[in-house]
Amino acid sequence: MADIRNIVVLTGAGVSAESGIATFRGPGGLWEGHRVEDVCTPEALARDPELVHRFYDLRRAALAGVVPNAAHLALARLDAAWAGELLIVTQNVDDLHERAGATRLLHMHGELRSASCASCGGREAWEDELPPGSGCTLCGAAALRPDIVFFGEMPYQMERIEAAVAGCDLFVSVGTSGAVYPAAGFVQMARYHGATTLELNLEQSAGSAWFDTTRLGPAGELVPAWVDEVLAR
Ligand code: OAD
Repeated sequence: MADIRNIVVLTGAGVSAESGIATFRGPGGLWEGHRVEDVCTPEALARDPELVHRFYDLRRAALAGVVPNAAHLALARLDAAWAGELLIVTQNVDDLHERAGATRLLHMHGELRSASCASCGGREAWEDELPPGSGCTLCGAAALRPDIVFFGEMPYQMERIEAAVAGCDLFVSVGTSGAVYPAAGFVQMARYHGATTLELNLEQSAGSAWFDTTRLGPAGELVPAWVDEVLAR
């Protein structure tokens, strides 16, 4: 590994799999029994708000029954100890990175424990069920929806992410299939700007060819070992 100071870690559903949260592209291409298009698009929300709200209510409630695993804890350890720049960009909408203690963290696809207003764009912390038509505390509109970035919508904080990716020396991807853009393109951007790139995943992904190195195995083993290596430098 060349000398490194600035690190970006991109995480996906695979980092939370060992905590018991289902990945998106599981057996049969279903997410918790639903086609992703039926619960993760603006059209689905408009067509059947009860179904979509209920789906995320169940996912939100399920967070109470899961805990961070060794991969989340290792990334939080890196966050606490790393003197250089670090940004953990997660595609996950669970809160396991922050519960593990990570702070230099950004949720590009939204968060289960948050609601967003379809009228004013405001966001607020949300713990309970979120029925369609719930009122926004900022603008008063009965327009709160799950704070999830659906297909066709712009992920959060893209400018900040792109600046971090362009400025990093080491880009690491953990537990993501490389199927969903723009996140799937970050590795190409990092390479273009001269970063070393490393993939940690259970199996080869759609993006594996873009990485300098791919290590295959469960995140709960690969991530702590990699963090040990980085902190030992
Ligand atoms: P996917 O379900 O597409 O991919 C999960 C990846 O994790 C796969 O490559 C698995 O092989 C790998 N994996 C599974 N278990 C693992 C383990 N224990 N350790 C390491 N890797 C493991 O999930 P994402 O790539 O995160 O978007 O999906 C990207 C986006 O698609 C999601 O954020 C979501 C979805 O539609 C939105 O919600 C907008």
